[in-house]
Amino acid sequence: MRELVLPNDANTLGYILGGRVMHLIDLAGFFAANKHCRQRCVTAAMEHLDFKHPIRVGQAVLLEAEVVWAGHSSMDVRVRVESEHLLTGERLETSTALLTFVAIDEAGKPTRVPALTPQTPEEQARYKASAAKRKKGG
Ligand SMILES: CC(C)(COP(=O)(O)OP(=O)(O)OC[C@H]1O[C@@H](n2cnc3c(N)ncnc32)[C@H](O)[C@@H]1OP(=O)(O)O)[C@@H](O)C(=O)NCCC(=O)NCCS
Repeated sequence: MRELVLPNDANTLGYILGGRVMHLIDLAGFFAANKHCRQRCVTAAMEHLDFKHPIRVGQAVLLEAEVVWAGHSSMDVRVRVESEHLLTGERLETSTALLTFVAIDEAGKPTRVPALTPQTPEEQARYKASAAKRKKGG
């Protein structure tokens, strides 16, 4: 997902508001979860979030979301956020978030999602990390 930071998104310093970034993270994560299961999905949780660099008005926000783990009805989605300077193309990673989405049926009850089979070593590592977190009750 790509968004342009407009003045209405910003604080008095001209930096995008944290809440606006969280909104975009939620949306990008939703699209990934929905694409995985093609069901109604709700956000159940969002993990700790750091804002490492400001993203300024006139820059682009790039969001890349991937499902990293799937349980019975829940899916963990990693969202990576970058800023992009439109004139130089310079990119900076500004945040990484982990969210949990739950697929629900028409009655709002959790419903099954397809299993996820991680392929690359990186995907397998993320899958294992999420599975271990779940085992611990995180
Ligand atoms: C998310 C929601 C559907 C879970 O419903 P529930 O009846 O409590 O579901 P269960 O306890 O049976 O859990 C269902 C799954 O969700 C997971 N889950 C529920 N809450 C979770 C949380 N806070 N963090 C991580 N996973 C969670 C469970 O681990 C379970 O996973 P699994 O099926 O893969 O094993 C329900 O709490 C809800 O509707 N919340 C509001 C969602 C919403 O409105 N979001 C928008 C922001 S307010």
